[in-house]
Amino acid sequence: MIKSVTDGRMDTGMAGFSNTLNAEQIGLVVDFVRQAFMHSEKLNTRYHTEGNGWPEHERYAIAFPFATGEIPLDTAFEQLTPEQQQGRELFMASCITCHDRAKVVDEGIAWDPRAVSFPRSGYSHRIPDAVSAATPYSIHDQVPVMEALSTQEKQGELLYQANCAFCHAADGTGRNWIGAFLEPHPRNLNKMQGMMNERLQTVIRDGLAGTTMPAWRHVLNDAQVAAVAAYVMRVFVANEE
Ligand code: HEC
Ligand code: HEC
Repeated sequence: MIKSVTDGRMDTGMAGFSNTLNAEQIGLVVDFVRQAFMHSEKLNTRYHTEGNGWPEHERYAIAFPFATGEIPLDTAFEQLTPEQQQGRELFMASCITCHDRAKVVDEGIAWDPRAVSFPRSGYSHRIPDAVSAATPYSIHDQVPVMEALSTQEKQGELLYQANCAFCHAADGTGRNWIGAFLEPHPRNLNKMQGMMNERLQTVIRDGLAGTTMPAWRHVLNDAQVAAVAAYVMRVFVANEE
């Protein structure tokens, strides 16, 4: 450090001070830098100070070891003293948002293959909630029971339930889980007054630009499009209230 301050560092903005300071002064300033910034780092570079808006941060001292990495966050709970257990709880509740996890022993699997979607916390749109015993979505996942479907309509039913129900819901309302989130919402197929079979087949084949309604012409052949359309006409359009 004395050499750097005396001669400067080549190819950097750090100038040499040999013409400005004598050897004793250079020694003093280096001593100060070492003492103030290197040895007492924790005190001089502290973040949680009153001036920074964190008065009395010492009251959280039991959580400090988890913030500094002194105690790995995944240390078995039983191995912690009661005070450390409290500290860990405090850390998890109030500090981890910024401190992430200072240190863990076992990194674990880097990627968790489980899909995470909103809302989190294990909510499922299929499980009735404990309070109302209802689920607003899964009621729309029930396939309508229809008597006497023709062979073509039956084929259409299979195709519809496999390809379209994902967005339009099994009952055609578009009020299932996915449909509720799409913008614009999938068309309620039960409310398509005046929809003609021919126009329906064109929409299915070409999709609707600027919406999530896909073009199916490369997925379904003409007979399959006709079958889906027949099913939609019979079960949804013809049954409009
Ligand atoms: C809003 C964000 C934020 C929260 C919340 C937070 N910290 Fe910090 N903490 C920081 C930052 C930024 C630093 C400075 C990090 C650095 O210098 O590398 C820091 C540094 C520290 C340090 C090192 C000493 C110091 O003051 O710089 C300790 C110990 C610490 N935090 C403990 C905690 C504890 C315990 C909690 C929970 C009660 C907590 N922190 C909550 C942002 C936060
Ligand atoms: C990825 C989601 C998605 C899938 C899958 C999907 N649709 Fe759509 N569909 C939409 C959306 C969104 C709209 C509404 C667009 C609008 O009204 O702006 C729509 C609109 C429609 C319309 C109304 C057309 C009109 O002119 O108003 C019909 C009919 C339709 N879809 C049938 C189907 C059929 C049949 C299938 C399966 C072969 C299907 N959709 C698959 C999202 C989807």
